[in-house]
This record gives sequence, C-alpha cells and structure tokens, in this order.
Amino acid sequence: MAERARIAVFISGAGTNMAALLYASRMPECPYELVLVASNDPAAAGLKLAEAEGIATFALSHKGMTREAHDAAMEAAAKEAGAEYIVLAGYMRILSAGFAARWAGRMLNIHPSLLPKYKGLDTHARAIAAGESHGGASVHLVTSELDAGEVLAQIAVPITPGETAESLAARVKLAEHQLYPRALADYVSRWRNPAWLLAQVRSLALALPETSEQESFGAAGFRVGTGKAGKYFAYFADRHHGHQGIALLVKTSGPDELAALVEDRPEAYFRPAFYGASGWVGIVLDRRDLDWQDIAAWLRRSWRSAAPKRLTRLMDVAEQF
Ligand code: GAR
Repeated sequence: MAERARIAVFISGAGTNMAALLYASRMPECPYELVLVASNDPAAAGLKLAEAEGIATFALSHKGMTREAHDAAMEAAAKEAGAEYIVLAGYMRILSAGFAARWAGRMLNIHPSLLPKYKGLDTHARAIAAGESHGGASVHLVTSELDAGEVLAQIAVPITPGETAESLAARVKLAEHQLYPRALADYVSRWRNPAWLLAQVRSLALALPETSEQESFGAAGFRVGTGKAGKYFAYFADRHHGHQGIALLVKTSGPDELAALVEDRPEAYFRPAFYGASGWVGIVLDRRDLDWQDIAAWLRRSWRSAAPKRLTRLMDVAEQF
C-alpha cells in the first residue's frame, strides 16, 4: 500500500474524536496514521489514551503565553513528529492568522453544527432554541476566520422532542465519530480520487479562453474554438487504453520532446497508446507530490498549440502586462 499520510491531532478535552480517528487508522487500508496527539491542557484525558496506544504526545498549557508563542510551540511539535496534516479535534483555541496560513489546505477541524449555521460556541443550545429540525457536525478546512473554511463533509442529526443541549451533544458526538475518520481519509487520499482529479483538471482547462468539454472515446476531452473549428487540447484519461493510472494527455512539440520527457521522468510521463504517435504525452496525475502549477502550465501550452491565431494573439497581448 502507498505510504500513509502523517497526522498530528490537537485536542483540549476528552478526545473522543481523536480516539475515533485513532481506531479508524488501525483498520486495514486506512490512508492515514496518527504521529502525534498534542494538547494545550496537560490534563486532557485524550493524552493518556494516546500514550497507552504508543502515540507520541505533547502538552503545553497556554496560560501565561502569547497566542503566537503557544501556536509556535504546538506547530514545532507537529513538525518534529513529521506531520503532514494537523487535525483539530475539540481543540478549543483560536489560532493565530500566521499559523492558519502556514497550514492552509493541510489543517482540518470538526465543528458541532451544520455550517455555515451556528459558528462558535453553544451550537446545540442555539439550534434547539431556534426550533431547528436537525443539528449535526461539519468537517472543514481551517482558515484564519473562525469556522469559515471550505466544508468537506457534513452529517445531520435529528433534534427529538424534549431534546437538551447535553442529549443532542452526545448524539452528535456519535455521528462525529463516524464522520471525521471518513472525511479525513477521503481528504488525504483525494490525490488518487478520479472524480477529484477530473474536477481539478476541468476547472483549469475551462478557465482558458473559448474552451468546452466534449467526451472522446470514453475520456473527458477539452477543446478550444467553436463548432467544427474546435480542436482538442487535453484529455483526462482514467485507466484508459490499458494504462494503469490516471493521466492527463496534452500536446508536446513533437516526438523528440515526448521521448525526452519519458526518458527523464518515467514516473511522471509516458507515451500514450494511439496519441503518442502524434506527439501527445501522458502525465500521471495520481501522484502524491503532483505539482498543479505544472499541470496548469502544460494545459496552457497545449491550449496554445491548438488555439486559433486570433485567440493566441489575445493571450500574447494579455501576457505582456
Ligand atoms: C466535539 O463535539 C467537537 O465537535 C467540538 O468539541 C467536541 C470535542 O469532543 N468542537 C468544537 O466545539 C470546536 N469549536 P472530544 O474531545 O470528545 O472529541
């Protein structure tokens, strides 16, 4: 199996979500492992469990420290443990903007409401008082704005007659324990998820001028120009024509460049069946370390080689500024 994503979990309290993440990581095929459990409260119950499970722990009270200094110490512990992601699980601290920015796209949180509703504290009491039919939980990316980053997954939990904030909180936690491990697993393995990869390619390809999507022999294809004058400049190939992985097909300058790419970096480039003959290269997309800037550049280049002069001239002018 591919190497697993390394996770640091930050907690402040009971750590039941951390425990759910931990035991899910012990199931076969789980794409992540916990490398650290850290807390701003040395008495947090979750630390004892982590220790008993042989996971490194770190505890540092925030009392008497500036927010920045405390964040920096927590961050240093995560880095020391080799964490690739920080996962907040009942970590009741507001993070400094710099810390959130440094981990943008690599820090997740779980919040006990159906965001964007009920950010902040006392979510359950507020949902009940508002007469909501459901409470729930959301897993989201962390940004410097509280509970406002992109929502990755949600689960709704009904509010029953006579519900109290405590009874709802307990039931929402059961749902959280299902939601968080699944959402985290999906997030750390998105790099090999065909639907996610296609969505990235699509948004880059269709951001170029006068482009459209049209299927070609079972692959998603991207064209520039209109009607019959349109030409393909990229294909998204998911295990296509016998190739094992997921790939983007784009045009090179010709057979020499294609051969050089494949020889230099065989893990990244290959000569695709049928298309290779006319100088198209296959770029392997399902790689953990894929550089999306590089993919964007390839798409632009391939678009250029297929686009009519009137469009490339406009692009030339635009790129001078
Ligand atoms: C969870 O319900 C989590 O959603 C909530 O704290 C609880 C932690 O429980 N988080 C927040 O309210 C964040 N603003 P746990 O320590 O048992 O996982």
